[in-house]
Amino acid sequence: MKKVILDMDPGIDDALALLLALRSPEIQVLGITTVAGNAPVEMTSANARRVLEYFEMTNIPVATGAAKPLNHPLVDALNYHGPDGLGQCGLPPPRLPLHPAKAWDFLAQLISDSQANIILVATGPLTNIAHAFQRYPELPKFLAKLVLMGGAYDLTPFGKGNQTPFAEFNIWQDPEAAYIVFSCGADISAVGLDMSMDPTTCLNSQHLEQIKTSHTPTAHLTAKLVEYAIKRHGRCELHDPLALATLLDASLFDFISVPVEVITGDGWDRGITRILPLEKRDKLPLIQVATAVDGPRFLKLFLSRILEE
Ligand code: RIB
Ligand code: CA
Repeated sequence: MKKVILDMDPGIDDALALLLALRSPEIQVLGITTVAGNAPVEMTSANARRVLEYFEMTNIPVATGAAKPLNHPLVDALNYHGPDGLGQCGLPPPRLPLHPAKAWDFLAQLISDSQANIILVATGPLTNIAHAFQRYPELPKFLAKLVLMGGAYDLTPFGKGNQTPFAEFNIWQDPEAAYIVFSCGADISAVGLDMSMDPTTCLNSQHLEQIKTSHTPTAHLTAKLVEYAIKRHGRCELHDPLALATLLDASLFDFISVPVEVITGDGWDRGITRILPLEKRDKLPLIQVATAVDGPRFLKLFLSRILEE
């Protein structure tokens, strides 16, 4: 059983990653921290609770975090995820209160217990985690692993940007936070657009019909989230479930161990994640970057977990 904290910005694909985590016996979700990204933080915090309450998983705490990136104004993606940030799926507003601690303090409380052996899965901008590492500099040492959805590494034909032609949304949103996290020295695995923009990892209308054949609560909500994306974007990209899937079956992926430079500031190159040659790594630690994924096998795993009775 892997003990996991999810730091996320739900968001349709974050919600699908949460569903996948809740439906996977290998994963114990200890808590969720929410960040501004796809939607304002009040909305991402509500959306995390809306999904948990739908499954009556009200014992999982949700701690809210940063309302904006470290050095930039928030640029949301509601044009992609819908006015409620959750594909207008119709879930009622949350009833339960947020955890009293801010996300960075919540992360420190759980992770700094060195016996905790916690894996942090980040599927939004890295603002909360950067705040946590700034306030608690020892924290990276206590993390068993940090898995993140972020970056575009030009490792496949799909590894181009989706916020700019060069930069992926999560990293572009808060490049200064990403720089702090990528430099922290923890055991980091990064899944970028190189994997998640590959059509073999995306759900299409045939998959939606398959999901609709099941009438479980999980399948019902999944169908709503996926249908919203397919109707407006032609497919449902599973960026965040892919990152979580590295914990379910690592054999789905190949990784390389490389130094990655994050371009900060607000220029044309903001948010670029550049793999450096080893001789130019300077002080950058090595991180694991996904170079390949078995798309059909990933989708089979995702659908089997979602459709299981
Ligand atoms: O670029 C895709 C990533 O940005 C995903 O995590 C999506 O949810 C958004 O946060
Ligand atoms: Ca996300």
